[in-house]
Amino acid sequence: MKTIDLVQQRRSCRIYSEQKIELEKIDQLKKIALWSPTSKNNRPWEFVFIDDKSLLEELSACKPHGAAFLKNAPLAIVILADPNKSDVWIEDCSIAASFLQLGAEDLGLGSCWIQIRERTHSSGSTASEQVKKLLHAPANLETASIIALGYKGKERRPYTDEDLLTERIHLNQFK
Ligand SMILES: Cc1cc2nc3c(=O)[nH]c(=O)nc-3n(C[C@H](O)[C@H](O)[C@H](O)COP(=O)(O)O)c2cc1C
Repeated sequence: MKTIDLVQQRRSCRIYSEQKIELEKIDQLKKIALWSPTSKNNRPWEFVFIDDKSLLEELSACKPHGAAFLKNAPLAIVILADPNKSDVWIEDCSIAASFLQLGAEDLGLGSCWIQIRERTHSSGSTASEQVKKLLHAPANLETASIIALGYKGKERRPYTDEDLLTERIHLNQFK
């Protein structure tokens, strides 16, 4: 599918079917993550693919709101990075997350971004620390986000031209 069609069609998907994601598609997602561009080609990120049901359930409680649906997802990709490897690790992780979401759409999968960086766990510690504890992640890493993935359990309407905030596009200067 053309990129413009993927961008128009992609909507956050938080309800997944029982259908298993084929290993071939998981391999393609790994390549998409690792081919995503980074500043100075520093590649400061790490990607943890998670298909373990009980771990997905524990991760779904890593922050009080906006992650609960993860317990019913067949797959999650946790994106972490070492801030000492790049001063723009947040951008690098965000690009990988976006590539993964568009790639997922192209593979016929639904996905949703779960924000972890700057979020707190209910205990008062950070959501990032909670995720790192569950994954036994090295101390030098920070968690940026989690991408939940799976076959769509519910279709959502694609975007249309009526959804475009055309006033946010400017030519040369703000008028
Ligand atoms: C940086 C970022 C953080 C997000 N965090 C969450 C989140 O923690 N939980 C969630 O359910 N959705 C999250 N989303 C999904 C947004 O709510 C969603 O993209 C937005 O409402 C637009 O809907 P759409 O994805 O269907 O276009 C996040 C999206 C972005 C880009």
